[in-house]
Amino acid sequence: MKTLGPKGALEELIAPIARAVRNDRVTALAGVLAQLCERGAFTPEFFLPSRPDHYSRKLIWHDPEDHFIVVGMTWAPEQGSPLHDHAGLWGAEIIVDGVMSETMFHLAERGEDGRYRFERGMHRVSGKGTVGVLIPPLEYHDFGNAGTSVAHSLHVYGGNLTSAQSFSQSDDDWWTARRVDLRYDG
Ligand SMILES: [Fe+2]
Repeated sequence: MKTLGPKGALEELIAPIARAVRNDRVTALAGVLAQLCERGAFTPEFFLPSRPDHYSRKLIWHDPEDHFIVVGMTWAPEQGSPLHDHAGLWGAEIIVDGVMSETMFHLAERGEDGRYRFERGMHRVSGKGTVGVLIPPLEYHDFGNAGTSVAHSLHVYGGNLTSAQSFSQSDDDWWTARRVDLRYDG
């Protein structure tokens, strides 16, 4: 498990997030992330350089009691995460810079053949300071860089999210799931 000592910029980032999580308020956490963004708390040290093969993930903080993790993500243009779940955990995310596209999906049906049917929900293309919240069963979305420059986002998950299901569309209505291990690039 990789953690960093809570000092300086890191402590200023983690302390208010930990308070909101402890109070069991994901909606409050969304407000906390927006305030931190306005305050310029998301400094470059929390993010890795972009890489050509996939978006970069950096573990910023792993709560010692596994109540939450904080992950910094770096997205080169056209990089994205296709429709996925969050293993039943809640999540909150904020766009730190750049332009990101997000589409929410509602799970409509699980077919007998192990495939899934979804209905598309809200779609938005948004920039710095935009916050999103995922609370199961509303935990399905895609998320990717919709701009022409590198984008950064910061994500808080309500537990140690180590794997998730990623879905690919097999025909008009049905999607096939595959399990993806979520690794860190640094
Ligand atoms: Fe996600």
